[in-house]
Amino acid sequence: MKKMTKTAMTLALGLGLVTSASFAASHASVTNKAVAARHAQMQMLAYHTGILGSIAKGEMEYNSAMVDAAATNLRDLAKLDGTTMWLPGTEQGAVDGSRAKAEMWSNFPDVIAKVTDLANAADAMIGAADQAAVGAAMGAIGGSCKACHEAYRGPKT
Ligand code: HEC
Repeated sequence: MKKMTKTAMTLALGLGLVTSASFAASHASVTNKAVAARHAQMQMLAYHTGILGSIAKGEMEYNSAMVDAAATNLRDLAKLDGTTMWLPGTEQGAVDGSRAKAEMWSNFPDVIAKVTDLANAADAMIGAADQAAVGAAMGAIGGSCKACHEAYRGPKT
């Protein structure tokens, strides 16, 4: 497992590495914290996307250090190993507060592709030299959030 975390695949969400649903079932106290932890990951994504969006719209003044830091954090957040946070058995309906569709765990390669799209889109933002360049790189970031939410985020309850 340690070796695998070094591969490009597991740099992204580590879904599927813990394949036994009984892990979550037998560790009930961990599951709520796992959902809280991945919500925190998503909140951090939203915070940094918000900074870039504000700069793209001219609501916040362009600043290269701010752009690079936000984009780097986005990229690195997308590369967190999700093995500990996206535990099998924590889909919507199984654990309070979860809106992760069960399909996340059955479509593992597609989830990895989507989170990799986000990492690449964030990487492409690094070095954006002015407001227009931030705006141009913004679409791919927002698009990658949307694509995954449409596929794998369940309805509000
Ligand atoms: C690989 C899939 C994927 C990508 C990419 C993704 N999300 Fe999410 N996001 C989810 C899922 C699934 C949930 C629901 C998780 C849950 O409730 O357990 C979620 C939930 C959220 C939430 C709600 C968190 C909470 O506190 O309830 C926010 C905010 C969010 N995402 C923002 C973003 C932003 C911004 C991006 C892009 C920069 C993004 N997400 C990219 C899958 C993704």
